[in-house]
Amino acid sequence: MAEYQVRLINENLGLDETIEVDEDEYILDVAEFEEIELPFSCRSGTCSSCTGRVIEGDVDDSAGQPEMFFNKDQRAAGLRLLCIGRPKSDCTIETHMESRISEF
Ligand code: FES
Repeated sequence: MAEYQVRLINENLGLDETIEVDEDEYILDVAEFEEIELPFSCRSGTCSSCTGRVIEGDVDDSAGQPEMFFNKDQRAAGLRLLCIGRPKSDCTIETHMESRISEF
């Protein structure tokens, strides 16, 4: 099973942590286990509280319905749901993005 390096960043919050996440693990779950506080609400892909923006690499959040919350441009900009997001490669993710979804 592949394991990926997932870097979580947020300049405003001073967050810059890298965690190791298996390809079948959810990024939010592993971050929590590592005591990194990320926002969430439903934990099932049915809201947008956990939105992150994938800056490098790729994250698969197809276990939920991300198309309900993000349009094509926002998807292309890297917006993903981290509670159901599994890494497909090493990646860098800007966290706490829910309030900025409309910027993309
Ligand atoms: S916490 Fe609701 S979609 Fe992730």
